[in-house]
Amino acid sequence: MEDIPTVGLGTWKAAPGKVTEAVKVTIDAGYRHFDCAYFYHNEHEVGAGIRHKIREGVVRREDLFIASKLWCTWYTKPLVRIACCRSLKALKLKYLDLYLMHWPMGFKSPHTAWIMIPSKLLSFCFSHPRAYDLPLDCTNMVIPSDTDFLDTWEILIRFQIQRNVIVIPKSITPSRIKENIQVFDFELTQHNMDSILSLDRNLRLATFPITKNHKDYPFHIEY
Ligand SMILES: NC(=O)c1ccc[n+]([C@@H]2O[C@H](COP(=O)([O-])OP(=O)(O)OC[C@H]3O[C@@H](n4cnc5c(N)ncnc54)[C@H](OP(=O)(O)O)[C@@H]3O)[C@@H](O)[C@H]2O)c1
Repeated sequence: MEDIPTVGLGTWKAAPGKVTEAVKVTIDAGYRHFDCAYFYHNEHEVGAGIRHKIREGVVRREDLFIASKLWCTWYTKPLVRIACCRSLKALKLKYLDLYLMHWPMGFKSPHTAWIMIPSKLLSFCFSHPRAYDLPLDCTNMVIPSDTDFLDTWEILIRFQIQRNVIVIPKSITPSRIKENIQVFDFELTQHNMDSILSLDRNLRLATFPITKNHKDYPFHIEY
């Protein structure tokens, strides 16, 4: 597919054993875009859901936009093709619509790093459920509780769409999957948009802090 559908399904942390069913629901709900990655350890299951719906005749492969990502231990030229083929093999697909570098900085190969980094990273994440300082209001809510129109996910997804940003909400819950794509039959006013924009705290949520001493770490610069 040449154009990127505005709303896609995020698949990070979508548990194996649940994500295949979620993908089927997603396609039935009208999604045509999937954000996958080798690092998410669930491409087999995502692919199974996609292929099931292709076999059923609900969609054709060319109706879908499927992205995957090259993990950081594979950032040397000879490894790129091997890594890409691994994702294709897991997804059991012939091609991807987009293949991204997962993060801007490369990690050492051989793949001892592949084993070490995720486990270090996982233990870091488990010990730091909130590794970043979010601005909180007096009720410990990240988004101010007096912001009356911010009570649905659809609003937040719609907000990004109106800024021309593609959104890839992750969910494995059928009702939420359906809810997250009900965003094309209403429009936020400029006042709504400005109110949400005024919540900007100029911070990045995903900073991958374990890599902050890497020479190519990109987030030390002002953004
Ligand atoms: N390249 C990268 O490094 C990178 C980094 C971050 C994210 N991503 C991509 O972006 C996607 C989204 O990431 P994220 O960090 O925004 O997702 P997230 O926080 O990991 O997952 C979304 C969470 O919100 C819940 N949720 C979804 N829809 C909801 C709704 N309508 N109402 C209430 N709760 C809802 C989901 O629960 P249930 O699943 O239980 O329904 C899930 O717990 C990822 O899956 C991945 O594909 C890429």
